[in-house]
Amino acid sequence: MKIKKAIIPAAGYGTRSLPITKVLPKEMFPINGKPAIHYVVEEAVASGIEEILIVVSRNKNMIIDYFDRSLELEAFLTETNKKHLLEKLSVPKAHIQFVRQPYARGLGNALEMGMPFINDEPFAVLLPDDLFFEKKQSLKQLIKAYEKKNSSVIGVQQVKQELLKNYGVIKEKKVSARLHEIVDIVEKPQSDPPSNLAVVGRYVLHPDIFTFLKKIKPGVGGEIQLTDALKEMLKVRKCFGYEVTGERYDIGSNKDYFELLKKMYIAEG
Ligand code: G1P
Repeated sequence: MKIKKAIIPAAGYGTRSLPITKVLPKEMFPINGKPAIHYVVEEAVASGIEEILIVVSRNKNMIIDYFDRSLELEAFLTETNKKHLLEKLSVPKAHIQFVRQPYARGLGNALEMGMPFINDEPFAVLLPDDLFFEKKQSLKQLIKAYEKKNSSVIGVQQVKQELLKNYGVIKEKKVSARLHEIVDIVEKPQSDPPSNLAVVGRYVLHPDIFTFLKKIKPGVGGEIQLTDALKEMLKVRKCFGYEVTGERYDIGSNKDYFELLKKMYIAEG
């Protein structure tokens, strides 16, 4: 079945990036004049996604405004001989909807908000903290693997031992150069991570995940963790990790954000 739908959870407080995130959502951090989430939506569309649900929270209306048309601005540019700037207002072509997550109960809970939108078909998830500098979109790589295996596929990358405690980490059996069958998965292991392969914010999931999200109890940080639902799903369904190519930047890290700005400035001018 073709993967047409994606959920982008963008409801978190962005506590790592305070104080700016008191007023500016992390997803709106500018990169060459576009907000970070623009690039994530662009990646989804370039990977074949047609319908996107962005999960927001009360202080994230700016994201909704960004993907809406601005009729006054369009009229102003038209009337003042600045029509050439109209193309700067364009956003990636997809049908985008929004839903509000009333309580910050974690990634798993944010995804649950998307259950009616997904309506029992396999779907993609893109975490907008993770941006990839890569021509071959990371999500597209996962969708290809999904089509081959007809099972959920999670994007992973090798991460330094001392940083694994910040990620979901898989225990795996290698299938081929980049593909791994997941045997177990642990959220933010504080010791003895099961491998050096960390989950990097891109997923293609079987819709059964919603059944498991409903069943699980709050995990790390008192939040409903997607990783915990995946761990349960593994007992009945195969799930693969695919080592995506491309440099990953976590925009919640000042260093990565700065490095990404430099990279994009050089690439896009
Ligand atoms: C989330 C996931 C984690 C994953 C990470 C990737 O954690 O829970 O499994 O490795 O994203 O960025 P967060 O960074 O939101 O704490």
